[in-house]
Amino acid sequence: MKHGDKDLFVKEGRLRSFGRTSSRLTQKDQQKLDDKLKPYLLTAQQAKEFKPQSKLVVEIGMGNGACLAQRAKNEPETQFIGCEVYKNGLNALVNTLTEQNSQNFHICHDDARDLLENLPPQCADELVVLYPDPWPKNKQKKRRIVNTELLNLANRLLKDDGVLFIATDIPDYMMWILREVYNHDTFFPIATKPTEWATAPDWWLSTKYEQKAIKQGRSPWYMTFKRGVDKSNTKCAPLTT
Ligand SMILES: C[S@@+](CC[C@H](N)C(=O)[O-])C[C@H]1O[C@@H](n2cnc3c(N)ncnc32)[C@H](O)[C@@H]1O
Repeated sequence: MKHGDKDLFVKEGRLRSFGRTSSRLTQKDQQKLDDKLKPYLLTAQQAKEFKPQSKLVVEIGMGNGACLAQRAKNEPETQFIGCEVYKNGLNALVNTLTEQNSQNFHICHDDARDLLENLPPQCADELVVLYPDPWPKNKQKKRRIVNTELLNLANRLLKDDGVLFIATDIPDYMMWILREVYNHDTFFPIATKPTEWATAPDWWLSTKYEQKAIKQGRSPWYMTFKRGVDKSNTKCAPLTT
């Protein structure tokens, strides 16, 4: 959303880490979607007052949110916050949440970095980023959401033994993530065997982006990092072939 030259979705001084925020919605459809979203909405502003009473999982850039919605159904005692700036995918998500009568799901339709900044410190058990926008061109790479700023925010958000989970299908982004995480020095990988980087977690539901990547011949890496400092596994690198 733009107002003159100003990007209303992105705080000044921050680069936009995403593409479009909506497409081809008539005013009537937009209104309909806004009404449906209302019961689930948690704004980045409201996050300041959010006090989870149980385990909390936060996802950044959830797309249509199918994976997180499945978790919300299977883990009714856990609270979920799914963040996504692209509005269109949220329609199907709200239908699913309503169908499964999920009371443990919040949707944040703001820049995820604002959400993370405003949630209380050390309130989350997991932070999940499934297939962040790859920004493949050299001049675009500065837009990649996994960077020092995000790791600082993750370090603030997660509890002592909290987990940062990232999936990607782009070899160059996988290496980028490893470099960022190792340099940051507050998260360590839990993989003990190289094959674990290619094994989806128990709660996995293949996402829309992953399906597209597999169809196009790319393979996923599933990267689980724990908050804390333990370098014992740093030699267990992911398989790259
Ligand atoms: C490549 S898509 C992957 C979507 C979904 N996770 C999947 O696997 O199908 C990345 C998504 O992240 C969203 N995104 C990127 N930066 C974001 C940010 N700062 N806050 C919220 N969403 C963001 C984009 O709008 C996009 O939908």
